[in-house]
Amino acid sequence: MRIVLVGPPGAGKGTQATRLAETLRVPHISTGDLFRANISQQTELGKLAKSYMDKGELVPDEVTIAMAKDRMEQPDAERGFLLDGFPRNVSQAEALDELLTTEAIKLDAVLDLEAPEEEVVKRIAGRRICRNDSSHVFHVSYKKPAQEGVCDVCGGELYQRDDDSEETVRTRLEVYHTQTEPIIDYYKAQGLVVTIDSMGPVEEVTGRALAALKREG
Ligand code: AP5
Ligand code: ZN
Repeated sequence: MRIVLVGPPGAGKGTQATRLAETLRVPHISTGDLFRANISQQTELGKLAKSYMDKGELVPDEVTIAMAKDRMEQPDAERGFLLDGFPRNVSQAEALDELLTTEAIKLDAVLDLEAPEEEVVKRIAGRRICRNDSSHVFHVSYKKPAQEGVCDVCGGELYQRDDDSEETVRTRLEVYHTQTEPIIDYYKAQGLVVTIDSMGPVEEVTGRALAALKREG
């Protein structure tokens, strides 16, 4: 299956993508995680990305599209993928369409994770992620690690993302409304959008997403 996950920062895209990818046996491709891996390895791409991410702005399309394309062309993505955080504006969506057309493949669905703004702000404020792997995600009240500050999965140190400060979150939400939301209409025109209520326990949200994919498929 080839799926795009869209939704405001903190809606639970990463959390759901990890779970859905396991069930659907396709790789979870997160452009945010790819950028964060580059930042921790101190690559040139990482340095460039950090200067935008710290402000809550989008990393320029050219580098983002090249990085996403490269990841989608890896052998494990041949059987499908779950895109999390990409595409993030209409020109990225057009670039993705071009790539899919070249390879004669199609998206199966675009899952739009909906959650009210006051909830996403709470989720982001309490989020803690692992230094070793930014897909190991916790929350100080909703998903407490067994030991404070320590990752349950690998024992790594938990920290708060630099772009999770209140001010940057405000910019990220604004960028979401102005630049990312238009892709929902773009994909609605292709009949691909399924809206998922992202409130409630993580397992229930996964259940809704899987049920929706079954109906679509
Ligand atoms: P990215 O890493 O993609 O961040 P985001 O879209 O802002 O999304 P988040 O990671 O903040 O939230 P999420 O929806 O994944 O929520 P999560 O599952 O963690 O992008 C970061 C930056 O990178 C961008 O600002 C940009 O600069 C750059 N970038 C990335 N992609 C780009 C692109 N394509 N083009 C240009 N620039 C790009 O959950 C949040 C918290 O809530 C967690 O603590 C979790 O445990 C908790 N939680 C999750 N679900 C629930 C639930 N059901 N109930 C209670 N708590 C929950
Ligand atoms: Zn970890």
